[in-house]
Amino acid sequence: MIDQAQGLRTLAAHTAAADHARLDTILTETRCTGAQRACTTIAVTSGKGGVGKTNVSINLALALASLNKRVILFDADLGLANVNILLGMNPAFSLLDVVEGRAAIRDVLLDGPGGISVVPGGSGIEKMANLDSVAFMKLVRELEQLERMCDFLIFDTGAGIGHIVKTFVKAADRKIVIVTPEPSSLADAYAAVKMAVNAGGGDIAVIANMVRSEQEGLDTFKRLAALTRRFLGKIPIYLGALPYDKNVGNAVRRQFPLFLENPRAAFSHTLLKIAYRFAGRKDNEASGFFVRLAEFFKRT
Ligand SMILES: Nc1ncnc2c1ncn2[C@@H]1O[C@H](COP(=O)(O)OP(=O)(O)OP(=O)(O)O)[C@@H](O)[C@H]1O
Ligand SMILES: [Mg+2]
Repeated sequence: MIDQAQGLRTLAAHTAAADHARLDTILTETRCTGAQRACTTIAVTSGKGGVGKTNVSINLALALASLNKRVILFDADLGLANVNILLGMNPAFSLLDVVEGRAAIRDVLLDGPGGISVVPGGSGIEKMANLDSVAFMKLVRELEQLERMCDFLIFDTGAGIGHIVKTFVKAADRKIVIVTPEPSSLADAYAAVKMAVNAGGGDIAVIANMVRSEQEGLDTFKRLAALTRRFLGKIPIYLGALPYDKNVGNAVRRQFPLFLENPRAAFSHTLLKIAYRFAGRKDNEASGFFVRLAEFFKRT
């Protein structure tokens, strides 16, 4: 396992002043056009693994697409190519090919079900941290094209608060933390909210997943909010509760998402309501996601 922090420290140490100047130029250029930026970036994250991030990301992407939004789902998980497996896709290229300069982003983008596009992840994300600064900036330019191609760019992150996850969460306009009613999920969700609060900028929202009732979802959120209010002085936005539904698991096994199979299921319907909330909001962040991502990598 590569020590990501070490990789980033090495990257930072080798970054020449000229590269910083070039990055500044990119940042300035993008800020100038930032007012017209239509794309909203959403990072779906959690402290604990296996709480439903990938299923929420996929079905939220489909819900937004059903509202005629152009959506790109970006698998930002390390090493585990989850999204394409859950969607039954077999990519010829992955982000790793873009990172290593063998493919352009358009070669990697796949047509997914329900009109969404998918960027399969894999180990490409990890490699981003170890690129030299010139190659890294080339990659950022390449990835920036994604923002021009969609209304919503959704990042399905890995679990935990490791460096790469943190960087994606920091750079996203909206941060969704998934929590489940299990006591162990609460402490991990608190850590994820804390990380997002410390990152600053952008809304932090919570979805309670795998709940047995609306009330259980609300209670779970209240417990989390009590912790964040007490220790962080902040209360996240509550987006709602998704029921435990064995059809979510069945849909995974069939590699066909529940939102498409059964849009009337409570799981799908709640995500549609959440999609309406996102779709109704205008984003006016100053600069693009990938430029902010580059900024965070450089600062490390
Ligand atoms: N609402 C739900 N009802 C029933 N099962 C669910 C629900 N949400 C997720 N699951 C199941 O939980 C498991 C984990 O889901 P998923 O892969 O989406 O989690 P994750 O947070 O992305 O995991 P990881 O941290 O490994 O990336 C899957 O088997 C999925 O089918
Ligand atoms: Mg996942």
